[in-house]
Amino acid sequence: MTGRLTDKVAIVTGAARGIGAAIARAFAAEGAQLGLVDIDADGLAAFAAELGATGARPMTAVANIGERAAVEAAVAAILARHGRVDVLVNNAGINVFADPLELSDEAWQRCMAVNLEGAWHMIRAVLPAMLAAGRGAIVNIASTHAFSIIPGTFPYPVAKHGLLGLTRALAVDYAPQGIRINAIAPGYIETDKVRDWLAEFPDPAAARARIEGLIPLRRIGTPEQVAHAAVFLASDETAFSTGSVLTMDGGRSVVYHD
Ligand code: NAI
Repeated sequence: MTGRLTDKVAIVTGAARGIGAAIARAFAAEGAQLGLVDIDADGLAAFAAELGATGARPMTAVANIGERAAVEAAVAAILARHGRVDVLVNNAGINVFADPLELSDEAWQRCMAVNLEGAWHMIRAVLPAMLAAGRGAIVNIASTHAFSIIPGTFPYPVAKHGLLGLTRALAVDYAPQGIRINAIAPGYIETDKVRDWLAEFPDPAAARARIEGLIPLRRIGTPEQVAHAAVFLASDETAFSTGSVLTMDGGRSVVYHD
């Protein structure tokens, strides 16, 4: 690691596990000072202790990103400690998959609140500090579901399409003020969420082999690979990129037909 985020104050949501935890580890290794946000208090405390053992001193804030007031309190606490926010990674997200006509109002709202509005709540909370500083980098963890559809996954892709729209719309509006907003679109990434999903199949090994066979690179990705992309987009190496989306799906979304 080469100190690409030295002295940058970075907030990562959904940091207690999975892709968010990998991003937090990579950011810490690159010298960032971290504010970690998650709804899972125990998981967040355990992960912060793990990071602490490596010498990092992350600040943690337990919050449901779907609730604007909770987000504002979390960001205010991080700003009170560090005085600024240089980087925000909107990573927290949940799978909500249902038959459209059987989907409850509550499930629709939960999907949109966490996967779409949560990112907006976070961005709205950090923007004043970024505008005052005249710079900032925001990375939204979208998905290949932001531009392609897997049958039976409604309404998750609706929210992820919206997250890409949010990325692009705000990127254009805030570019003149020095704020860059980009997205990463992961495909299948080996996290607990994906392992749990695979475990629900009658033959998990066969389900995994079928999915790997659909991916041109013939494997599922790792959280660390997404974390490398997040470091890149958060760092000054991508100073001329905004409104972009970096796909990390082993080539899957390029394939028209199997
Ligand atoms: P995960 O389920 O392993 O971790 C998600 C983290 O977000 C957990 O720590 C959870 O407590 C937290 N979280 C959930 N709801 C929250 C809320 N309302 N407020 C605050 N924190 C909350 O998920 P994973 O796999 O690491 O995914 C992370 C992101 O990457 C999500 O946005 C997901 O949609 C996206 N993604 C994941 C892919 C994969 O294959 N794993 C593929 C494409 C996108």
